[in-house]
Amino acid sequence: MDVYLNGEYMPMEEARIPVLDRGFMFGDGVYEVIPVYARRPFRMRDHLQRLQHSLDGIRLPNPHSVEEWEAILETMIAPLSLDDHYLYLHITRGVARRDHPFPNPPVPPTVFVMSSPLTHPSAEQVTQGVACITVQDNRWLRCDIKAISLLPNVLMRQASVDAGCGEAILIRDDSFLTEGSASNIFLVKDGVLLAPPKDHLMLPGITYDVMLELAASHGIPSQIRKIMKEELFSADELLLTSSTREVMAITSVDGRPIGNGKPGPIFEQLYGLYQTFKREVMRK
Ligand code: PDD
Repeated sequence: MDVYLNGEYMPMEEARIPVLDRGFMFGDGVYEVIPVYARRPFRMRDHLQRLQHSLDGIRLPNPHSVEEWEAILETMIAPLSLDDHYLYLHITRGVARRDHPFPNPPVPPTVFVMSSPLTHPSAEQVTQGVACITVQDNRWLRCDIKAISLLPNVLMRQASVDAGCGEAILIRDDSFLTEGSASNIFLVKDGVLLAPPKDHLMLPGITYDVMLELAASHGIPSQIRKIMKEELFSADELLLTSSTREVMAITSVDGRPIGNGKPGPIFEQLYGLYQTFKREVMRK
């Protein structure tokens, strides 16, 4: 069965939700994306913890305990091939007459889970890196919530596509870096991996944590601090990370080359470590 919807497993074609669902009406919900390597979910507990943080952030009670979530996700994973996949979890405030305040009394939330094949960055993207543009981060002030209302992210990501680029780098208040439209951003300067702080202005990425752990355990110095826009252009390397894109080198920003315009040594090391980790820990 393809998908999980409100307690049932069914083919995708049979999954239906009413048009008055508050996810459809208001974008009133949260989501998660969990990689699955060889039928093993990657950092499931961390993703479920972040889901809880997102639900708390929108004041929606978690419909399931961690154990219930694990059982649902294991059922979704069981029929998958050994190829890489990801699970997409989506919870909305449920179906009610259209009115902005929360339904009172509350209605059951809508809970949806699907799996999809994970398409990896192409060989060319790995060896050449990706070009990016900077855009103004015009989102709200709770970007730590993984909200399904992604209109600003969609528009920013499309602006990068329109410019022939692979990602939009978001700059807050015309001054400092927050993240990418659907990724976290790292900077390398003089051998140090720099990352913006996990605060309310960015999504606390699970891959972000993995990168910092891999750096710490392999002698790459790192520092967490605010990164100013102009630092991007004098960086030795820039990296982007996400569950679906893993780690990629950013080799130009707004048409200006980063470093020598090629993926750098820290990218190559972290990319290699991530692949080894997947092969040896996840696919064993
Ligand atoms: N997005 N920042 C934003 C705004 C994101 O949407 C994502 C991931 C990340 C990286 O988080 P993680 O490493 O936990 O995937 C950062 C997912 C992949 C998506 O929306 O499809």
